Amino acid sequence: MDQIRVRGGQRLRGTLPISGAKNAALPLMAAALLSDRPVRLDHVPDLADIASMTNLLRQHGVRIERDDTSSMTLDAGEIVSTTAPYDLVRKMRASVLVLGPLLARFGKATVSLPGGCAIGNRPVDLHLKGLADLGAQVEIGGGYVHARAPEGGRLRGGRVSFPFVSVGATENLMMAAALAMGETTLINAAREPEIVDLARLLAAMGVVIEGAGTDTVHIQGRERLGGAEHRVLPDRIETGTYAMAVAIAGGDVVLQGADGGLIEAVIDTLVRAGVGVETVDEGLRVTRGVDPVIGVDMMTEPYPGFPTDLQAQYMALMTVASGASMITETIFENRFMHVPELGRMGANITVHQASALVRGVPGLTGAPVMATDLRASVSLVLAGLAAGGETAISRVYHLDRGYERLVEKLAACGADIDRVAAARAAAEE
Ligand code: UD1
Repeated sequence: MDQIRVRGGQRLRGTLPISGAKNAALPLMAAALLSDRPVRLDHVPDLADIASMTNLLRQHGVRIERDDTSSMTLDAGEIVSTTAPYDLVRKMRASVLVLGPLLARFGKATVSLPGGCAIGNRPVDLHLKGLADLGAQVEIGGGYVHARAPEGGRLRGGRVSFPFVSVGATENLMMAAALAMGETTLINAAREPEIVDLARLLAAMGVVIEGAGTDTVHIQGRERLGGAEHRVLPDRIETGTYAMAVAIAGGDVVLQGADGGLIEAVIDTLVRAGVGVETVDEGLRVTRGVDPVIGVDMMTEPYPGFPTDLQAQYMALMTVASGASMITETIFENRFMHVPELGRMGANITVHQASALVRGVPGLTGAPVMATDLRASVSLVLAGLAAGGETAISRVYHLDRGYERLVEKLAACGADIDRVAAARAAAEE
């Protein structure tokens, strides 16, 4: 297996381009199932998760063309299957996003249950309950969700009240409601920027949709939707990750194309920790001088709070802060797998239930490490940027799921980082 190797101690300088958001692109791709007309998406990142969604949609019959820029055209004019098989779904939870659009357009869908994942139990009960509220018959058998629209083959608009906030369930229901008869109201909807991006695409396809970005979304269903063109919004998690990379390594970097308005809670926290963050014409400029960052407490929350997808990276930063910080994870029950690996690099972290007390240390030391999920893996890269000696990160496929050209982007800003191909890594172990 490939490894990424980082030799810490280099300050970062220069310009680092921010890609389109993975978590926006995935539901936008699924939304192409709603129409028999082509949907063109620009600024789609080149990532393993995007390839997984491409494979899944192709298996349904969607024709997908990707040119060598970051554009993609999806044509769901001829669908050959409304079943999403286990083999493809188990690779990526977001595959469950095909359920709403398939059911709404074809009156039936069979989608494998995604199963557990490294960061927790993550059920899809809210997605299923919401679809039932629109009149669907939903049964579970053989590891699959079997969903059918009522008589006549069309879902009925209705009121869906989520007991707690779920990004994926909100997206699935928005897509299902787009082709339902009449109006749907989603109550306690997620407010993430990726929801707003999906609403923009649905509107361009002909749906009347109001309130996206607030906790109540109204969707006026249509019988048929058209094609559309849409540019994916910048990746706020990638933005936050590289902002923290600059914060931990020190330096002065412009995150090109970043939108600071999408990560206000993160910027607030970083500024309190002593990191310089300012909006410039090209994007966001992040600076950190010679003083270490200061320990600042943080709690993850649904948007507009601090995102859980940046918790591991923030923890890496806090390991070298002056003073202590308390980091509390409220979204996922098992999202501290990076703690023992950071510990192997010399971090001082004590976990009690959903909180981690991080006592800053003067420096980390490089070590061979590995992680079990995407954001935990990148937190180890960040720690490696600050550590003395070499850090070798295994299981690089996690990083390939969510960070486009990670090594190139960091190396271009002066990081001493490279990727070692599987055979060489094994020979050297
Ligand atoms: C999305 C993001 C993911 C991010 C997460 C939270 C994508 C592709 N992924 O995941 O990167 O970490 O939002 O910001 O956009 N839950 C249930 N029942 C359900 C659905 C969710 O109990 O039916 C629980 C989950 O286990 C979790 C919480 O609700 O504890 C939030 O999950 P959710 O917002 O649904 O996350 P995803 O959409 O899966």
